[in-house]
Amino acid sequence: MSDQGPWWRDAVIYQVYPRSFADSDGDGIGDIGGIRARLGHLSDLGVDAIWMSPWYPSPMADAGYDVADFRDIDPVFGSLAEAEALITEAHAAGIRMIVDIVPNHVSSRHEWFQRALADPEAEERELFWFRPGRGPDGGRMPTDWVGEFGGTTWTRTTNPDGTPGDWYLHLFTPEQPDLNWDHPRVRAEFADILRFWFERGVDGIRIDSAALLIKDPELPPVVDGRPHPFHDLDAVHDVYRAWRRIADGYPDRALIGEVWLPEADRFANYLRPDELHAAFNFDFLGCAWEPALMRECIDRTLDAHRAIGAPATWVLSNHDVTRHVTRYGREKTTFSFANNLDGSPVDLELGTRRARAAALLSLSLPGATYVYQGEELGLWENENIPVEQLQDPMWARRGHSRDGCRVPLPWDGDEPPFGFSTATPWLPQPPEWKDRTVHAQTGDPSSMLELYRAAIAARRAEPGLHTSAMAWLPASPGVLAYRRGPGFACVLNMSEVAVALPDHDQCLLTSSPLDGDLIPPDTAVWLRLAT
Ligand code: NOJ
Repeated sequence: MSDQGPWWRDAVIYQVYPRSFADSDGDGIGDIGGIRARLGHLSDLGVDAIWMSPWYPSPMADAGYDVADFRDIDPVFGSLAEAEALITEAHAAGIRMIVDIVPNHVSSRHEWFQRALADPEAEERELFWFRPGRGPDGGRMPTDWVGEFGGTTWTRTTNPDGTPGDWYLHLFTPEQPDLNWDHPRVRAEFADILRFWFERGVDGIRIDSAALLIKDPELPPVVDGRPHPFHDLDAVHDVYRAWRRIADGYPDRALIGEVWLPEADRFANYLRPDELHAAFNFDFLGCAWEPALMRECIDRTLDAHRAIGAPATWVLSNHDVTRHVTRYGREKTTFSFANNLDGSPVDLELGTRRARAAALLSLSLPGATYVYQGEELGLWENENIPVEQLQDPMWARRGHSRDGCRVPLPWDGDEPPFGFSTATPWLPQPPEWKDRTVHAQTGDPSSMLELYRAAIAARRAEPGLHTSAMAWLPASPGVLAYRRGPGFACVLNMSEVAVALPDHDQCLLTSSPLDGDLIPPDTAVWLRLAT
């Protein structure tokens, strides 16, 4: 039925952030038992795959993106046996599983790093970036590189005799030492980790910080106009070519990269036919709610992917960025880490209305669509978490916390913890979410949840949405209208005035009620056209 090819080219992929999905053991933190108990929610939603944020043993210095052992599960989430049971149960429900691998760094509690720290002569030292400091007493960091969370990128060690030692590199927190990908042991280890999870039946790997792995060993300063010492070095592609060969040894597996790069051509390099299968579209995620910019972004995306035969992806939110109900309710609707808009006024009604329209946009463009847990419930960013409860390490370095998009899901009931747990959730839920629980929205045709359910079902059913092409249709200023196949069209009114519905056979879905034959502002419609 689909001309789009393998599943990863047009799947709806739901991101589970395990700490915040559902808690089964009453400690206030989500776990695998909670996911297994609530798998029905994902079947009802109709998603094709789950991407699981890290669930490995971790001191949780960066919410699990500091991995101490890639072949096990943190006890807070459960056990390897439970993970295997979840994979089996998801498959039985027709849902594929994608796990998150973090190759740029490990936890400082990882056994390799522990050995490297304990003995300056240990072989494991070479698996990281240990360097002497600058200056007569080695007291200055080897470089002045700024970390990905802001702040410095080197921490000094202490020698066994108590004297100050070398420094080690960490592009994120000191608890996340960077691996040396020039070392064959690092490459062999990750090849083995990929096989470990593929052997357990996982269908895909999400690759964290995929463009950062390789560093210029000369450690030059970051200078505008010169090659960057650790962003997107060409040699990183050898790693992904090797990974692709591993993935190709199993049927139907996919590699999906987290690649934040502004240049479309550099981004597209990761998606060449012998590298990754797909990568997240952060250009789309950060795009303002502005028709000309949105249309350009869609064209840019489709052009870049078409050139290399890779599927586009459509991403509105994830565990790192301000939830889009909040973003789209602000005066400035873009997103960037460097220029966050925390605390600026938000019109949640407007944001919700636009988020509904954005759902119909992202679910009807050609390619794969990602849904971040809670977006199907219309959750907004919790910007009122007391400072003493913030846990994100970015907060101390950048004055911006990602905790507000990581708040546990509301399932049922009239007050927190909304069925998430029997204990107090690890981050506070807004009491106003009583109208946004799964229970409250189920059966309410005007709810966000029922909109997502209906849209994902229609996406499966409509032949036009199984074609790989789209074509723009003529439309009034501020309106994006496109066709998929001969019989399907989406019209998104981003202008400030209502516009006429084009000719159609059937109106399949609207993100907000129509005004007679008019599409109100910030509304999208799915139409079946006469063919
Ligand atoms: C990207 C992940 O999405 C983010 O949550 C994490 O903090 C960094 N990579 C470091 O692993």
